[in-house]
Amino acid sequence: MKVVVIGAQWGDEGKGKIVDYLAEDAKYVVRYAGGPNAGHTIVVDGKQFALHQVPSGILYPNKSVFLGAGMVIDPEALFNELQMLKDNGIDWEGRVFISDRAHIILPGYRQMDKDRDAARKRPIGTTGRGIGIAYSEKAHRDGLRLADLDWPEKMAEFEGENLAYLNKYKDKLIEMRVDLTAKMYEYREDDILFEGAQGAMLDIDSGTYPYVSSGASCSAGAATGCGIGPKDLDKILGVFKAYQTRVGNGPMPTEFNNESEGELCEYVRKTGREYGVTTGRARRCGYLDLVALRYACITNSIDSLVLTHLDIYDTFDEIEACIAYEIDGKVVTDFPASVPAMEKAKPVLKKFSGWKASLKKCRSYEELPKAARDYVEFIEDYCKTPVGIISVGYERDETFIRENPWKK
Ligand code: IMO
Ligand code: MG
Repeated sequence: MKVVVIGAQWGDEGKGKIVDYLAEDAKYVVRYAGGPNAGHTIVVDGKQFALHQVPSGILYPNKSVFLGAGMVIDPEALFNELQMLKDNGIDWEGRVFISDRAHIILPGYRQMDKDRDAARKRPIGTTGRGIGIAYSEKAHRDGLRLADLDWPEKMAEFEGENLAYLNKYKDKLIEMRVDLTAKMYEYREDDILFEGAQGAMLDIDSGTYPYVSSGASCSAGAATGCGIGPKDLDKILGVFKAYQTRVGNGPMPTEFNNESEGELCEYVRKTGREYGVTTGRARRCGYLDLVALRYACITNSIDSLVLTHLDIYDTFDEIEACIAYEIDGKVVTDFPASVPAMEKAKPVLKKFSGWKASLKKCRSYEELPKAARDYVEFIEDYCKTPVGIISVGYERDETFIRENPWKK
């Protein structure tokens, strides 16, 4: 089985936790998009790990993990992350591999990324990790892939700081380099988990362009980003939170209003720990946007949704979710491409009653209070997609499965 986990919102949906949870039954975990812009948090036995480039399966002692062709790799940050793992007792050596088609982020890209964003009339609010620069070099056909590291003619293009940097990491990268297509073909009968980064709404093509990242964070990116065919992906899971967040700039129709909903926003941000794992920025928070979620289900062929952070609403009398936008007096339920339309969109909210109970101990759907089940069932009906997994806390075991994604 080949199971793909993508973010179904603007990133930070809890993909790390879910990948870690599902990785137990996978033989291999392959990350396919983005680079050090991602921040995947996993909590095991009270110990928190923040992973940026290393796939979330690494915490299991014997699993091999792969960094895919769709990624842009920052070698310095990668080796620092691996060192952090080692310092925490995670023995990674011999089980972290990188696609020979993955591109490399050069040392100057970070500053170029920041300068470019600062010069924009409407900055994107990038993570400043050089992601957009690396992907644009790739699109320009000037990028450097791991496969090129021992190609003298290509390496002759580099000098000074860049050359010294590449020479520092070259041998280590070559040691970890693999032909990922060949590996995926070799493992074609095995259970493999494909870990997305960012989210459907940050995808370069189907996201809220230009307020997106530069990689293919859509489910199709798992195929292109790992060198396998799209028909070989068996199941697509879309992770989403019970509410909405976004970091960086760009339209977010359901964002809490600072003045009238400031307290609500603070509560959700604090209880949901909505601060960036990569940049430390406070995340923008808002009501669950079902218009955007349904759009993500459609554009990514999501078979099953994974709901996280449902417990954040435990103390609420009433919760609300957005079921349509009002744009220039018209009610729409299709997600618009136009930035001005998205900026004008006012959420049409539907009220749900709260459950006023702690969900932390729930380990089956039946144990959820009726009001929580009603919220879940409305989402399923609206998106025409089942919610197969629900997370009710940060720990690995604070999760339950309604439909096992590894079952054919
Ligand atoms: P994970 O995998 C949330 C956002 C940035 C910015 C935009 C472009 O942890 O969910 P970039 O540096 O990629 O050019 O920034 O995309 N962004 C993310 N937001 N989670 C992420 O990853 C993100 N990766 C990029 O905040 O708005
Ligand atoms: Mg993040």
